Amino acid sequence: MERISTGLTKLDSKLEGGYPEGKGILISGNTGSGKTILGLHLLHQACESGKNCMLIATEETPEDILLQAKSLGLNLKPFYEDGNLVIQRVYEERVYESIGCVEWGTKPSGLKSNIIKLKDIIPDTTDVVVIDNIGVFTPSISLDEFKSQFDALNHLLFKRNYTTIYIMDESSNKRTDYTAAYSVYGVIKMSNMENPYTNKHERCLEIVKMRNTQIPDEPMKFKIQPNKGIDFFSD
Ligand SMILES: Nc1ncnc2c1ncn2[C@@H]1O[C@H](COP(=O)(O)OP(=O)(O)OP(=O)(O)O)[C@@H](O)[C@H]1O
Ligand SMILES: [Mg+2]
Repeated sequence: MERISTGLTKLDSKLEGGYPEGKGILISGNTGSGKTILGLHLLHQACESGKNCMLIATEETPEDILLQAKSLGLNLKPFYEDGNLVIQRVYEERVYESIGCVEWGTKPSGLKSNIIKLKDIIPDTTDVVVIDNIGVFTPSISLDEFKSQFDALNHLLFKRNYTTIYIMDESSNKRTDYTAAYSVYGVIKMSNMENPYTNKHERCLEIVKMRNTQIPDEPMKFKIQPNKGIDFFSD
């Protein structure tokens, strides 16, 4: 099986070379745990090796994303300017609707999210897709709808041979009964928790599943460093 570098040497070594190419991987975790940054490492590495990448962003503007990446030593701007990296901001429809309700006094229509439609904005020539954060589409649909739409999207992107990272915040993952994990090829969980003994925040990355891959038993501890990004402790 072909692998695609995660952009982090140590993580690659624990994944037999990287993420399985052409498959869908779910990255979940609580807020501030490093999900977006893990995605940025992949995008930077993939762009550097000449791949076409797309970031579908629901929460941040392209400018903010480029600044965040730069502060971690990941210069994505040239790739963005050359079109090797497409960053598209996608608002969840309800955001527009909420703005409309406030500004023009319109009534909510009960509009439902359509996750499958995301496939239409990805150029055919794309190799790597990061969707950050698929969780924003979950509140307006039922669990069954989410599951069938997510399965369909994952299937369609797999058919197109994209290596896709689905980033999902922990509360959306919980709300949807952790069902996204079943359809994808791999699951990575990130956390940022206070150690009750030291009162210090500790970050760790856990490979929960990765089909066709022998995965480590232990979570990998890391720091996020300026100009470097995710920095794993040596074991
Ligand atoms: N330049 C930097 N130097 C050091 N640490 C940084 C830097 N930039 C970001 N961080 C750390 O990374 C954390 C954010 O990581 P990230 O945005 O990947 O989290 P996330 O899991 O995507 O969070 P959310 O669910 O809110 O989107 C910040 O809270 C900060 O602690
Ligand atoms: Mg994020």
